[in-house]
Amino acid sequence: MQRYEATAEARANIALTKYWGNADDRLRIPANESISMTLDRTRTVTTVSFRADLKADEVVVDDRPLAGAALERVVRHLDLFRDLAGTTWRARVVSHNNFPTGAGIASSASGFAALTVACAGALGLDLSPRDLSRLARRGSGSAARSIFGGFVLLHTGPSDEDAFAEPLHGPDWWEVCDLVVVVSRSEKKTPSTAGHHLARTSPLHLARVARVAALNERLRQALAERDFATVGEIAEEDALLMHAVMMTSRPSLIYWLPETMAIIHRVRRWREEGVQAYFTIDAGPNVHVLTLPEHVDRLLTDLRADPVVQEVLLCRPGRGASLMG
Ligand code: DP6
Repeated sequence: MQRYEATAEARANIALTKYWGNADDRLRIPANESISMTLDRTRTVTTVSFRADLKADEVVVDDRPLAGAALERVVRHLDLFRDLAGTTWRARVVSHNNFPTGAGIASSASGFAALTVACAGALGLDLSPRDLSRLARRGSGSAARSIFGGFVLLHTGPSDEDAFAEPLHGPDWWEVCDLVVVVSRSEKKTPSTAGHHLARTSPLHLARVARVAALNERLRQALAERDFATVGEIAEEDALLMHAVMMTSRPSLIYWLPETMAIIHRVRRWREEGVQAYFTIDAGPNVHVLTLPEHVDRLLTDLRADPVVQEVLLCRPGRGASLMG
């Protein structure tokens, strides 16, 4: 049987400044630029086979077949690659995450980055990392950043061509640690895609977009100088700005739980005690605590003794997406 097949791996990332809201919803062109760190311990491995004998696309994630809107989203991504390669062959996609998908770590970033690299590899498309990043963005905005390792900037602009990620520093630049603090595993009620559409209904959205441009300038400099206090302060400020936009959207989105607030206050107490720790929070209740290696043992001990904490995953800067085998 004729087939074109490839396997790729990619990792999730944590945004230090957030992508929230689109300039163009259909093309997923972000309203603002964002900067992230790719996470080493959150890996997706995806195999794609385009085959002459398949009647429809089949997608299996962590041994479960996708259906409905989740399947449709992957089919649209496969269509982008079929168009580029000039084929009508359907595909079988098999994907595994080595981290629990319910743990509040965005699997769409690693998932669509791995899918993008696997599709390009399977169909023999000669695409630059920038093109791969642009294409990954069409599947999930944050996936554009997961094409690269280390510290990554996602550009935006008026057209599809302008919205791609670029690596700022590789994974070995700086050992920033991200303690992913899981306080809830329940599925979020409003997925990011729907949340992005609502951002513009908040009276705070445009103010945040203006502010984050200034924050990104300072963040780039702080990363270049390995100035952890500034990186942490900026990450906290933009997390709070994004959640202010979410909370004041119509309808209002409140992703935090009482346990989320408890960890926020815990982080502030650590700082009062001289421990360098800062929080950031994505579209969910779980908290990412950013710190440096010398504080990790202390923070892990405190977090594991805290009754609101279900699990802690320790991540460091990870590598970008690549073909395997
Ligand atoms: C809060 O990339 O998950 O994590 O493009 O709809 O898949 P889609 O959205 P997604 O949005 C990310 C939202 C965020 C912030 C961030 O990672 O920048």
